[in-house]
Amino acid sequence: MTDEAAATGDDPADGWFGESIAADYDDPGDGANSPETVRPAVEVLAELAAGGPVLEFAVGTGRIAAPLASRGIAVSGIELSRAMAARIAGKPGGERVDVTIGDMTSTRVGTDFTLAYLVFNTISNVTSQDGQVDVFRNAAAQLRPGGLFLIEVGVPELRRLPPGQDTVPFTVAPGDRGGYVGFDQYDVATQLFTSNHVTVSPDGTGRFHRIPFRYAWPAELDLMARIAGLTLKYRWSGWDRAPFTADSTSHVSVWQKG
Ligand SMILES: C[S@@+](CC[C@H](N)C(=O)[O-])C[C@H]1O[C@@H](n2cnc3c(N)ncnc32)[C@H](O)[C@@H]1O
Repeated sequence: MTDEAAATGDDPADGWFGESIAADYDDPGDGANSPETVRPAVEVLAELAAGGPVLEFAVGTGRIAAPLASRGIAVSGIELSRAMAARIAGKPGGERVDVTIGDMTSTRVGTDFTLAYLVFNTISNVTSQDGQVDVFRNAAAQLRPGGLFLIEVGVPELRRLPPGQDTVPFTVAPGDRGGYVGFDQYDVATQLFTSNHVTVSPDGTGRFHRIPFRYAWPAELDLMARIAGLTLKYRWSGWDRAPFTADSTSHVSVWQKG
């Protein structure tokens, strides 16, 4: 059991996304759930689906899968956390998402998907290179010939690390009393990093929430894809399909099964 699970009472089987995280995941105050963020992703996925059926790895609370299913596309999802998956059916379109609880490195639900996708940096939740290769292999195995695998993930922020520094802050938000500080901490020897969230309440009590990740450069992901029998078809800097450049902070990459 993680310290986190012990402290929160979450079910350890739900991994890093137990009930205490799932409860706030769809908070409308979070930009990830805003229509401005969700709509462009759903537009791209619907087009690439070419009628479907599609499979979301790590489907979470259905933030993307439910609106995609609302368009009449058959959507399946694999998700580790029962607490996260329990939220899907309550969303418009969510009742049409076919969810399987399991690990996306190995769980199989079909062999004929036109599109599999893994968004919101979640390839990095798999913290070994072997495990990430298994994600690519598992996606490829469930695609029909010509099918597509899409990943949305940030570019590791190593260029923001001067020698001797291992930490990159991403949010510092002081309140009247208390506040929030978020930062990533990198180990460039192992390619492991943690995202750290420190929240201090007005009464002075605090919570330090820490999630482990593994980063990979786009080129390493391309090699994983090649191992799995997939070839790069598109790489954009975001859902607007703008070109990926040296200054891009994230990418949406699409590989095709031969
Ligand atoms: C940042 S959330 C993204 C959820 C959803 N895809 C979205 O865009 O909102 C990451 C999700 O990945 C799930 N997850 C992490 N590792 C997983 C694994 N090995 N297999 C299946 N799900 C996993 C977590 O439980 C969590 O729901």
